[in-house]
Amino acid sequence: MSELLLTGIGRLITNAGDPITDAAVMMVDGEISYAGTASDAPDQGGGDRIDCEGRAVIPGFVDAHTHVVFAGDRADEFGLKMQGASYAQIAKHGGGILSTVAATRAAGEEALFQEAATRVRRMIASGTTTIEIKSGYGLDLDTELALLSVARKLGHDLPVTVKTTFLGAHALPVEYRDDRKGYLDLVVEEMLPAAAPLADYCDVFVEEGAFSVDEARRVFEAAAGLGLGARVHAEQLSHSGGAALAARIGAVSADHLDHATANDARLLAESGVVAVLVPGASYTLRSPQAPGPMLLDQGVTVALATDCNPGTSYLESMGLVVSLAVVEMGLSAEQAIQAATRGGALALQMPDHGFLVQGSAADLVIIVAPSAVHIPYRPGTNLVWRTIKAGRVVAGAWH
Ligand code: NIG
Ligand code: FE
Repeated sequence: MSELLLTGIGRLITNAGDPITDAAVMMVDGEISYAGTASDAPDQGGGDRIDCEGRAVIPGFVDAHTHVVFAGDRADEFGLKMQGASYAQIAKHGGGILSTVAATRAAGEEALFQEAATRVRRMIASGTTTIEIKSGYGLDLDTELALLSVARKLGHDLPVTVKTTFLGAHALPVEYRDDRKGYLDLVVEEMLPAAAPLADYCDVFVEEGAFSVDEARRVFEAAAGLGLGARVHAEQLSHSGGAALAARIGAVSADHLDHATANDARLLAESGVVAVLVPGASYTLRSPQAPGPMLLDQGVTVALATDCNPGTSYLESMGLVVSLAVVEMGLSAEQAIQAATRGGALALQMPDHGFLVQGSAADLVIIVAPSAVHIPYRPGTNLVWRTIKAGRVVAGAWH
């Protein structure tokens, strides 16, 4: 039996009621057995114990949208973008997603694993305890399967829970430039059945220059037949109908949503689709932030994620995402922290994660500050003192 008791918590965010001051948390065998006031904490025998010395504790971050397995980088494009080139212009000239596809196809599976593992270790050190990882930089059968295998292996080898998503319909690969139908046939008939055992979900990039609503519907129907739920890259660069499609097919999430309307929000709320917002991508692209406050007002469940990828959002820190969501998008600190923890867990259909109550997963973060408001208030500083995954300390700043 493994036991860990946290004492001296200055402020505990449980996501299941008001914050608790002067709190304690007891974890047994990877689950929370007590989270509440220190004075009511059960007596603990011989297990491990950490005195938090007044620091705040929050649930572990759940990063519900990443493309973290890739090779190479696009630093050259970043320069062009800062000089005013648009994402669409760069993609049209052979840059964008397809340049990462070329680098990813050329890298071996071992190199892909090592590069991604380095990033995921930094994510864990920044307080992330669960992460969703998409394929989509292979766009051929072998490389798409390699990306999903690497993602699964990251979850196996590192102290983080991983959910995987097949994103074969991310872009049209060069060899199918003049044959959209041929590529979609390949995705539906060959890639999806082969990828299904390695994937929890299927995603499609619905956008002008990527895939249409009708093309996406075909992919999602095939995915549903294989038992894969849908996540949709929707309304990122323009209003293309991805959110309404997500609502119509009962997708698990609609992601990005920078151009979502009040009507989209109503549809998402009615159909219980979680909105996964990625303020790092809007920040890097200097494009409008998703209407987070409006989505919340309309009753949509909102999650926050890094969207970690080498093109639009090369960031790994959920703390920075929370800060962008507050400062740039207009969520309150409480809303943003909840969206980055509980919201992410709901987006990944993990109802026992993202909150701290008896019986929930013992995934949490001790931060070097007296309250969680310091996370948005102090962007760019990793305030994580310890990351605890399944009741074990897995990362920490030793100060
Ligand atoms: O989430 N929107 C499409 N996919 C990624 C970008 C991928 C890339 O530029 O490499 C995104 O922003
Ligand atoms: Fe994305």
